[in-house]
Amino acid sequence: MNSRSLVAIDQIDKQELLDLLERARYFEAHPNSKILDGKVVATLFFEPSTRTRLSFETAVNRLGGRVIGFSDASTSSTSKGETLKDTIKMVSNYADIIVMRHFIEGAAQYATEVTDVPIVNAGDGANQHPSQTLLDLYSILKTQGTLEGLTITMVGDLKYGRTVHSLLMAMRHFHPVFHFVSSEKLKMPEEYLEVCRREGIEYHLHTDFSEDIINKSDILYMTRVQRERFSDIMEYEKVKNLYTLHNAMLANSKPSLRILHPLPRVNEISTDVDDNPKAYYFEQARNGVFARQAILTRALGIDNLPL
Ligand code: CP
Repeated sequence: MNSRSLVAIDQIDKQELLDLLERARYFEAHPNSKILDGKVVATLFFEPSTRTRLSFETAVNRLGGRVIGFSDASTSSTSKGETLKDTIKMVSNYADIIVMRHFIEGAAQYATEVTDVPIVNAGDGANQHPSQTLLDLYSILKTQGTLEGLTITMVGDLKYGRTVHSLLMAMRHFHPVFHFVSSEKLKMPEEYLEVCRREGIEYHLHTDFSEDIINKSDILYMTRVQRERFSDIMEYEKVKNLYTLHNAMLANSKPSLRILHPLPRVNEISTDVDDNPKAYYFEQARNGVFARQAILTRALGIDNLPL
């Protein structure tokens, strides 16, 4: 495995996270340059994406690199039966780094085992989404001025939502208090609750999405119910509309509260929230370009930035 690969957020320690956030801050101030001149980045998306793929590609284009890849695996030789191993080995002949999203948990880890080219996990099934986490951390830091000691409420699909898993693992370094709001069937997996217990992190489980919880929160992290992870669509229908944030629910929230969502949104944030200054999800997605510039340059060993 190339040591510069980014497969899971927990492979990065607290100092490295802070270093990546410093890089992201640098790239927000200097988004355009030629530091990836001559580099080829492959984006292999075996699952649909708007933000992750386009922000990675924007990140590369703004830094002078080139992008190859596919956004729909049915147009690749995967559709002829080529294995993931062979696909990764082939693309490794062409690219300096591979950004991949795959529906199988562990696919990015597997890819690191068949190539020496750095792999960046752009989401593997319900497991992790580390580049999303970096932009989430960057968004939290920008809006709160700190990552330390925040009350973070995660709402929705905490079972299949890979972004909340990665965010929990990253925020554990910064003494948070977590509120997890979900139905019993979509609750935060036990392995992540166990991490909280082991590390002495305060957390509370809720099935009601009450204004009392919103009013305590510094960050309200809404998530979509992940329809594509349900084998029984009737089970999805039962839970898809359980939690929707409406503007009126924010009336007594902290002035500094910010509402995040990895997007896409379905119906878990009413559009009447969009004009509230506490809504931050569109700016959050914009931060993805800078966070991904940070990840790509680190993975490519570009360490001479004037930070
Ligand atoms: N947040 C996120 O992963 O969005 P996309 O699925 O559009 O990439």
